[in-house]
Amino acid sequence: MATQFDLIVIGAGPGGYVAAIRAAQLGMKVACVEKSRTLGGTCLNVGCIPSKAMLDSSELFHLSKERFAKHGIKFDGLSLDLPAMLARKAEVVKSLTDGVRFLFRKNKIEPVFGAGKITAPDTVQVALNEGGSAELKARNILVATGSEPVALPFLPFDGRVVVDSTGALSFNRVPEHLVVIGAGYIGLELGSVWNRLGSKVTVLEFLPRITPTADQELGEMLRRSLVKQGLEIHLETKVTGATVEGDRAVVKAQGKDGSESTYPCDRVLVAVGRRAYTQGLGLAELGIEVDARTGRVPVDAHFRTKVPSILAIGDAIEGPMLAHKAEDEGIACVELLAGKAGHVNYDTIPGVIYTWPEMAGVGQTEEQLKESGRQYKVGKFPFLANGRAKAMDESEGVVKILADAATDRVLGVHILGPRASEMIAEAVAVMEFAGSAEDIARTCHAHPTLSEATREAALAVDGRAIHS
Ligand code: FAD
Ligand code: NAI
Repeated sequence: MATQFDLIVIGAGPGGYVAAIRAAQLGMKVACVEKSRTLGGTCLNVGCIPSKAMLDSSELFHLSKERFAKHGIKFDGLSLDLPAMLARKAEVVKSLTDGVRFLFRKNKIEPVFGAGKITAPDTVQVALNEGGSAELKARNILVATGSEPVALPFLPFDGRVVVDSTGALSFNRVPEHLVVIGAGYIGLELGSVWNRLGSKVTVLEFLPRITPTADQELGEMLRRSLVKQGLEIHLETKVTGATVEGDRAVVKAQGKDGSESTYPCDRVLVAVGRRAYTQGLGLAELGIEVDARTGRVPVDAHFRTKVPSILAIGDAIEGPMLAHKAEDEGIACVELLAGKAGHVNYDTIPGVIYTWPEMAGVGQTEEQLKESGRQYKVGKFPFLANGRAKAMDESEGVVKILADAATDRVLGVHILGPRASEMIAEAVAVMEFAGSAEDIARTCHAHPTLSEATREAALAVDGRAIHS
């Protein structure tokens, strides 16, 4: 194994592995240290990919049970083979993590499997997974160590009854009653999975709304839709304690009016946020103080920490904890290192919650615009009036465009609806080019497509939607 590099990346998640590949493309000699046995980080192993695999599988199960008959497709004897579903998920994960391994070989990146610790501004000590240790040196070190789930102090994860997202991606049987604490991304996605597969799902959320960072109007529409699908959602409910006995738990919570309630269940998913995973890296010893509450590493506009040769990106630094944000930062960071003009536009990072309907948003929410005092116009168009959505029998939801009242520049786009995750890309591109609602309205969209709803919403900004 070589020991001298231009760049050592610690962590092979979407931030780290993408940074490593881009750095290699730019001619750097790169090592990537990863403490797990596979590459790909949280995203590929226990995050984005397996959760979407389970969302897609459970959606097919739900559609075949509840919706196929309406399309004239009838059959008998539908049943769930959970082990096969989990095996397919594992297969998807394996093919993608193997794919990263292939990309490392192709780009001559040295993977080093073990836990890395920065012992000097140019040195990483690795406790190798296979035993022993290695000392690596480089001109620059990139911290891309990601994040970990936050536990509730009175309800520690036990990996069996009380689980984090990783546990809830691999239940070996469908829980009878799953209590989910937190109505954010993980709670609603994984709550949806198990609801579709037959669990009773109760979601307890501290705040008066679900998906606190999303546009509230659409968040409320999503809440109603999820309740219709069978999820029980309690807002303004503070979990105060829990007891676990054998294979069961009782979660205690307090409502806004102070009333106490108890939720007996057989599984609890705690999904109350994630914290940067920066402990044990040796940062404090080098004078780099992380934020005490979030664990995040402070960096400047070029992703440099207080020690200029040590950089950080992804979930380990400020900003939304999203894979594409981590990837973009990884690329920008190493391009800046190579003297290029790396850049991340934080105003146009989309967020998607892969429930059904999906909810996607980019730019400012209506609440943020109100708070900032900016004058804006709103255009909305329901999928109920979209031909393709009707043909698909997926006419729930709306496209909402927020544009500057004076200039018509698009300030935010929020979509609740079928394939909102794919549709949001058009909005991101328009916003990247500082486009206006009129630009979208004048762009020819294929018919019949879901994206025509975006055009109609843009027309609605000017009060001239055709189909509503
Ligand atoms: P990570 O992916 O967390 O990778 C960090 C890596 O560093 C890990 O492999 C870890 O083992 C390694 N590491 C840590 N410390 C050390 C050390 N000392 N030495 C060596 N290696 C170390 N985001 C989306 O955009 N879309 C989604 O659909 C989505 N779904 C998600 C679903 C779930 C259930 C979860 C939990 C997260 C999801 N996310 C999603 C968030 C996404 O996974 C993260 O934002 C993303 O993985 C962050 O990338 P990263 O490279 O910063 O860190
Ligand atoms: P989250 O921040 O999305 O949601 C946590 C929710 O828990 C919030 O609504 C919060 O108000 C609530 N909460 C906090 N403490 C609580 C308490 N004591 N009792 C009841 N409710 C409480 O965090 P989550 O779902 O754990 O996901 C972590 C991160 O992972 C997300 O923020 C996101 O960045 C990422 N992620 C992204 C996905 C995607 O892009 N589709 C999917 C899954 C995760």
